[in-house]
Amino acid sequence: METLTRTPAQASFDAFAPHYDRFTAHHDYDAWLRTLEALLLRHGWRPGAVLDVACGTGRSSAPWLARGLRVTGCDVSDGMLAGARARLGPDVELLRRDMRALGRIGEFALVACLDDAVNYLGDAGDLREALAGMAANLAPGAPLLFDTNTLATYRSFFATATVVEEDDRVLVWNGREDSSFAAGASALATLDAFIRAADASWERERSEHVQRHFPPGTIAACARDAGLRVLAGHGLHLDGRLDEALDEDVHTKAVWVLAAA
Ligand SMILES: C[S@@+](CC[C@H](N)C(=O)[O-])C[C@H]1O[C@@H](n2cnc3c(N)ncnc32)[C@H](O)[C@@H]1O
Repeated sequence: METLTRTPAQASFDAFAPHYDRFTAHHDYDAWLRTLEALLLRHGWRPGAVLDVACGTGRSSAPWLARGLRVTGCDVSDGMLAGARARLGPDVELLRRDMRALGRIGEFALVACLDDAVNYLGDAGDLREALAGMAANLAPGAPLLFDTNTLATYRSFFATATVVEEDDRVLVWNGREDSSFAAGASALATLDAFIRAADASWERERSEHVQRHFPPGTIAACARDAGLRVLAGHGLHLDGRLDEALDEDVHTKAVWVLAAA
């Protein structure tokens, strides 16, 4: 394990890790990855080794493995990596890395950073460093794939409460923003996990989630500075439909495909 400066995201996800898979149980990764795979093929992707940056508990890695591709996962959170090890087994290479200082891990046919990871970067400087590190791991002609949250998401999911209720735990996501959330601003949500103890009392664990909205212009500028060009920026609906043109007021996520300039 390398020594890392503790990031706010690392603290958030070490605390969130035991609950993450339950909170995201409704995310249909297989369907989402089928959509993304078709998108990549449209951009000339030749399937091969995948670097899954911010792999979390391995939910975004598993569908690539299921396609017979070699996957290397990395993440800043030990708690999330422990979940990935349990899900993916002993043979998958997992590394503890801050995406702002990835270094050269290898040469990959795809570098992917999926489902709400890039938005945990603090500012455009962090984004530039992360993109430069991802670029350094691309094989010639290989794509870089990632998503970012839109203004619509910060004005809805980050402005309301979402509750996931089970017998032994209740998870409460509380978005602290509102409909006036501004482009490029930083957003806060808290995640309270109420856990039933052996004596039937309830214990609360809280993690704070701070995200930055990156407008499309910032993505393009940071990509350029990192030696990348934007091949496509599509709009994703909550139900997984992908539209050609991104509308920050309509789509929940932007899906970006980049390649070396
Ligand atoms: C919402 S989770 C997504 C995980 C996984 N990709 C998935 O689809 O389930 C976001 C992940 O980003 C990771 N992360 C946030 N900031 C990071 C950073 N600077 N470097 C590496 N990982 C980071 C977190 O630890 C967390 O595992």
